[in-house]
Amino acid sequence: MSAKIRVLFVCLGNICRSPTAHGIFEQMLHNHPLANRIEVDSAGTGHWHIGSPPDARSIAAARHKGCDISHLRARQVVVEDFDEFDYILAMDASNLKNLMAIKPDHFSGKLCLFLDFAGMSADVPDPYYDDEGFDHVYQLCEQASRGLLQHLLEKHG
Ligand code: 4NP
Repeated sequence: MSAKIRVLFVCLGNICRSPTAHGIFEQMLHNHPLANRIEVDSAGTGHWHIGSPPDARSIAAARHKGCDISHLRARQVVVEDFDEFDYILAMDASNLKNLMAIKPDHFSGKLCLFLDFAGMSADVPDPYYDDEGFDHVYQLCEQASRGLLQHLLEKHG
């Protein structure tokens, strides 16, 4: 049996963007040939929301698209994540910078912006202080998730 591929989505609070990506990607894997090979998680670089469910606005935006993320609970990134995960995907440049700062030298996985997998070197904008941004976050995460799954199929399929 081939080794697991472990994917971690990271944002600041782990209540808006990364749980959205987490839920979408897990739903895409449902009944997918790679489903039993891939494990998914999400985390935040900040500690403020540890143990909390996703923001109600993220839950609503995802639910509107048929994706339930209400069961997810926030946790903070730990340095051990670099031993556990093969792909650590940051929602924005600030998260990426913070992850780079704690990345052990021996990390052999991929640490990059999530939207690289949507063919754009850009941030998933932080929607926390902007009620308008949640549907856009969902759409960007969906696009990048498709690209990520295609990449994993080509590389590991
Ligand atoms: P997220 O959004 O990083 O996409 O989960 C945020 C959630 C909370 C805060 C900032 C961004 N906050 O400042 O508490």
